[in-house]
Amino acid sequence: MSEDFFPIKKFDHVELYVGNAKQAAHFYQTAFGFTPTAYRGLHTGSREVTSYVLEQHLIRLVISTALTPDHPISRSVHLHGDTAAVMAMEVPDVTYAYQTATKRGATGAIPPTQEEDEHGVYRYAVIKCYGDVLIKYIDRSEYHGAFAPGFAARNGHLNGAIKDEREQGHGRYQGFGLKHIDHIVGNVELGAMNRWVDFFAQTMGFTQIIHFDDNDIATEYSALMSKVMQGGDGKIKFPINEPAEGKKKSQIQEYLDYHYGPGVQHLALSTGNIIETVKKLQESGVEFLYVPTTYYDDLEARVGKINEPIEELAKLGILVDRDDDGYLLQIFTKPLVDRPTLFFEIIERHGARGFGQGNFKALFESIEREQALRGNL
Ligand code: FE2
Repeated sequence: MSEDFFPIKKFDHVELYVGNAKQAAHFYQTAFGFTPTAYRGLHTGSREVTSYVLEQHLIRLVISTALTPDHPISRSVHLHGDTAAVMAMEVPDVTYAYQTATKRGATGAIPPTQEEDEHGVYRYAVIKCYGDVLIKYIDRSEYHGAFAPGFAARNGHLNGAIKDEREQGHGRYQGFGLKHIDHIVGNVELGAMNRWVDFFAQTMGFTQIIHFDDNDIATEYSALMSKVMQGGDGKIKFPINEPAEGKKKSQIQEYLDYHYGPGVQHLALSTGNIIETVKKLQESGVEFLYVPTTYYDDLEARVGKINEPIEELAKLGILVDRDDDGYLLQIFTKPLVDRPTLFFEIIERHGARGFGQGNFKALFESIEREQALRGNL
């Protein structure tokens, strides 16, 4: 199956449904260096939902909360806690994307819709993904406002100006050096991984690029199976995990238990200078998973020569992995919410196209230490 039949330009944004958007937006601004660029709420005539749009280079987060108890966002928060609820992708043609995906088996949620204001025409449609997660297709090629109709620009953000910069490939707000969304990982129930692999392949022509089964990971840590689906000419990557039997409770099962069903496990955000980015994040109070310093003892023997000083990486807890195409540097935050669910990965790629398979063992040990501290092992 060719992937050409489903063109995707890029990730547009990820929307988080939260209990208190004002405080969550403040956290992502101060801890992660995002800049608020647009807002909707009572002050803009939005009677049911408040949303803050935050940007850093080409990454856009929308933090939303509902103002009424029976709103779908309130129900989502009640069930899942704060969660990444919508994965939005920019496409050239929303109607084509929606009709193609639904014809090929996807369940529609919102049919192609057009909204207009003085800044132009904004088009979108929504289909259902794993759990209660939604996939939103957006065409903003004829829209020049801050974010979407109903949103007011914030922080001196000029309507239109940021769009021109985005199209030239550089965002306006540099923050802590986070650049774009590298991949978005979903956790699904035991036995459901292949169904969702097929979903991405059949509905949107994604191809499977990587497969880890429980044999790839030493038995004690064989806690998950994972397949990586790729689309949009390689710009969109969706790894999908399912729990596997191990000696200990799978970290994926812990997520499913606390999230009450499948959902987004982590967003991987790329940076061009992980050492500087992670320093800023740590100074701002972001907590990362800890790996023992012994991880660095034989690092060069495992991954070969790298540009970054190893003692600097060790000080910050940054991990390294190498594949046929190059190497990558990565680090994982602790959960960003009180339930052991959503977290961020920070990643810097030097050619490598993998996801840090060589770090799984060290990472799983680290995650299991955290699980044990939570009383969940
Ligand atoms: Fe990842």
